[in-house]
Amino acid sequence: YSLKKHNTFGISAFAKAYTSITTLQQLEEALTYFVGAEKFLLGGGSNMLILNDIEKPVLHINLKGIEKVNENGNKVHLKVMAGENWHELVLYCVNNNFAGIENLALIPGNTGTAPIQNIGAYGVELKDVFVSCEVMDLETRAVKTLTKEDCNFGYRDSIFKNEALGKFVITSVTLELTDLKKNNDYQLKVDYGAIKEEMQQLPGEDTIGKVAQAVINIRTSKLPDPKVIGNSGSFFKNPVIDKETYLKLLESFPDMPSYQVNDNEVKIPAGWLIDKSGFKGKRYGDAGVHDRQALVLVNHGKATGMEILSVAREIQKTVKETYGIVIETEVNLIEN
Ligand code: EPU
Repeated sequence: YSLKKHNTFGISAFAKAYTSITTLQQLEEALTYFVGAEKFLLGGGSNMLILNDIEKPVLHINLKGIEKVNENGNKVHLKVMAGENWHELVLYCVNNNFAGIENLALIPGNTGTAPIQNIGAYGVELKDVFVSCEVMDLETRAVKTLTKEDCNFGYRDSIFKNEALGKFVITSVTLELTDLKKNNDYQLKVDYGAIKEEMQQLPGEDTIGKVAQAVINIRTSKLPDPKVIGNSGSFFKNPVIDKETYLKLLESFPDMPSYQVNDNEVKIPAGWLIDKSGFKGKRYGDAGVHDRQALVLVNHGKATGMEILSVAREIQKTVKETYGIVIETEVNLIEN
């Protein structure tokens, strides 16, 4: 079974066994059938680089549905099944006047995988609206609810990348949003980056729809559309370094940008480090670096996962040699 159209990098790879899961009962049956065996869970395929053919059975989580489960004053809780496309959910919320995730427009992938890396952009992270998620244990098939505290969210990080790695399948996510039909004093989040300037270019009043449109415009101007050119968004995480190291580096690189994380640490944009190392727009066969955002690796057509990985390793090596900073991959590397 070809996985080419199920990974946004557009890597040609095959799975020995593939099953599309559309109901919880099918999920339980599949987990029973494959009990004891390792499984490969596939969502939107937007944050992975497939390096080889997949030997494990692939369970493609296509559970659908959006349900209002609770209303409390001007807050509304939406329970969203894991297979719902994230960007379509953002549009659904904008159209229904539910505020909270408009800054997260156009992030590729599905709702069920959003908690794993605590997706974030333009000043908002999933954790800001997250209430809980329902999971099924891959071995016992027990269903559990994990709260926000249980998920232990951090920058592009959660329990699902650590203690709970490979333990659960996320079946639904519940979000708390503001129902603007009942609350008019919701604060739009427009302080990050170029959102304000972009909004000034757009007609009409400032609304969540306008914020979403501004984010869509900014993202499409900088980030490649996976339907046109294969990619997985930011390939690396922005490294966090201690302040002492940062001040030392500033002596040699006075124009190095940074964001304060806390009193002792700063985050350095990996895109800047990679750009200044000369990789932006570079191409090695069909594997390369995007020409408008150095943080994004791209597949120009027929690149293999290994070819993309070797570009990534070359970048990591050069950045380490030039700045002494280790940059880690954000994208999951899939071995088999
Ligand atoms: N920069 C360069 N050259 C480049 C790219 C960036 O010099 O080629 C510099 C920019 O000038 C700017 C800084 O790096 O000073 C930061 O760049 P940008 O605002 O584009 O944001 P980022 O740090 O590269 C992060 C997230 C994105 C998210 C944006 C907006 C990570 C790893 N990436 O990118 O998330 O959309 O902020 O919030 O945290 C993703 O995770 O897939 C993703 C796209």
